[in-house]
Amino acid sequence: MAKNYKIAVLPGDGTGPEVVAEGLKVLDAVAAKFGFTTQRETFDWGGERYLATGNVLPDDAVETLQKFNAVFLGAIGHPKVKPGILEKGILLKLRFALDQYINLRPVKLYPGVETPLANKKPEDIDYVVVRENTGGIYTGIGGNSQPGTKDEVAVQSMVYSYMQVERCIRFAFEEARKRHSNGNVWRGLTPEEVAAGKIGQVTLCGKTNVLTYVFGLWERVFHEVANDYPDIKTAYCHVDATCMWMVKNPEWFDVIVTCNIFGDIITDLGAMTQGGMGIAAGGNINPQGVSMFEPIGGSAPKYTGLGVINPLAAIMAVAMMLDFLGENAAAKAIEKSVEYLTGNKMKSQAAGKMGYSTSEIGDLVVANL
Ligand code: IPM
Ligand code: MN
Repeated sequence: MAKNYKIAVLPGDGTGPEVVAEGLKVLDAVAAKFGFTTQRETFDWGGERYLATGNVLPDDAVETLQKFNAVFLGAIGHPKVKPGILEKGILLKLRFALDQYINLRPVKLYPGVETPLANKKPEDIDYVVVRENTGGIYTGIGGNSQPGTKDEVAVQSMVYSYMQVERCIRFAFEEARKRHSNGNVWRGLTPEEVAAGKIGQVTLCGKTNVLTYVFGLWERVFHEVANDYPDIKTAYCHVDATCMWMVKNPEWFDVIVTCNIFGDIITDLGAMTQGGMGIAAGGNINPQGVSMFEPIGGSAPKYTGLGVINPLAAIMAVAMMLDFLGENAAAKAIEKSVEYLTGNKMKSQAAGKMGYSTSEIGDLVVANL
């Protein structure tokens, strides 16, 4: 019997619904081609609903999503809602409540895509960031005294447990194995390392020179976990140096593992090096539970309804979702089609400059599957 996947669709705000529509168009096309079905339900959670009802999420939102195999999210953020309310109330709330403790963000330059990095080619920019997604500064532990006065003191803590760090780092090592499981060893290894059985690399991105407690823990766990993966080379970079090398020598990276806030920051940098927010996708992953896939850019309200926004990030989020669900051939087919478009059809990845409308891009991805 054909497999059926239950997908919760959260189009969200601004251009979210437009890019989600293209993602679903591609999802339907690959489902037909690869012989599976999807059963979908759409939820109107976002800025408009909040403005109309005064609440960000229904009380049973988390319970509702638990019944699905995956969640496909467009974008959260509305110009009429104070920053923070929807982001914390929907996006962060769901990441935490569904225990999506990994944020997996590939940084991959597709053929034909313009990168601001001089002389860098697709083979130079191809790595993934494994961002810890439910801890650290995002835990929200902190407070202030005498707010609004000149004596105000504020604190927000970076909090990590051994368990949180361990499961995140282990995921990163597994990811490195997965990336090279088909025999394509990581390009950065020396012949000696390959002869010694190495296939990939995980780089810990931290700040052991200043945040000695938290990254002391990360570093210890990193080496403990690495013992279980003799086939994976290890490396370490401070976060500031990571930013430097992501620009100067992105080919040095295979898998980067890091804490929540550093991952947030470096993946925006990474997205720019791969051609911008129009193309960068990510997955909020709970390996044992319900994961949520999204284009990593925002709702881009100024482009709403114009049909000019780039849907490739949302389409690649669908590919990541299918890969996670085990429909690897369908995921690969989407990626191949996207690569064909960037390499042969599209003028640019920027909104309004693609040479095609939002829905024409969706049609082209389908046509070239
Ligand atoms: C992201 C976003 C979110 C984050 C915001 C919107 C809360 O920037 O997904 O990277 O900081 O994680
Ligand atoms: Mn971010």
